[in-house]
Amino acid sequence: RGIVVAVDGPSGTGKSTVSRQVASRLQLSYLDTGAMYRAATWWSLHEGVELDDQAAVAAVVRAMPLEMITDPHDPHVVCAGTDITEDIRAKELTEVVSKIATNLEVRAELKRLQREILAQEARDGRSAGAGVVAEGRDITTVVAPDADVRILLTASESTRLARRAKERHGVADLATIEATRDEVLRRDADDSTVSNFMTAADGVLTIDTSELDISQVVEGVLGAIAD
Ligand code: CDP
Repeated sequence: RGIVVAVDGPSGTGKSTVSRQVASRLQLSYLDTGAMYRAATWWSLHEGVELDDQAAVAAVVRAMPLEMITDPHDPHVVCAGTDITEDIRAKELTEVVSKIATNLEVRAELKRLQREILAQEARDGRSAGAGVVAEGRDITTVVAPDADVRILLTASESTRLARRAKERHGVADLATIEATRDEVLRRDADDSTVSNFMTAADGVLTIDTSELDISQVVEGVLGAIAD
């Protein structure tokens, strides 16, 4: 069967970019589990449920017609026939995604879906026997603790803020970093109440990306996979 590579970390560590590039290089599939939490948020808003009503949200998420396209060159997310790849990155949605991600019934349902996708990708692969790179916040610990390779990407708080500010506003200065602070730190704090992604679990390799550029982190991950 194909390999499963699990990558976790907080925002601003380069997790998504690195995971996609590693998947492309090795011709693996790419699963962005954060995009699934974002899709669940989009769908809950679309269905008009109150996001604080945990039972109602869980019920609509269980009925969510979600399709994850796992090609690392062009990953996208389709829900009820609509391509929502861009919409799920919106600031307004990002601000409320943790409400959905701290709903334990939602987590159980998405974990089930994610394991199903991983099992299928590990069976089929993009080229026979290849496998999948899955990234998120609880892949190394909860979704795929038995993954062939498990990596936690970390970075200092100031690095993570600067990276996200640059991503959002094109430049990292005092104003854009301040504007990004809540998106990054408040969300990490909320997410930390349900997942452990700030420190590595037993057997998980930590790569501190603070002083590394993307290609150096990609090489580090490729090295860990080759070992
Ligand atoms: O890019 P960034 O890491 O900032 O966010 P993301 O990967 O798109 O994840 C969006 C949100 O989904 C996170 O803030 C978490 O609330 C949630 N998430 C989670 O709870 N568990 C995962 N495995 C992945 C994401």
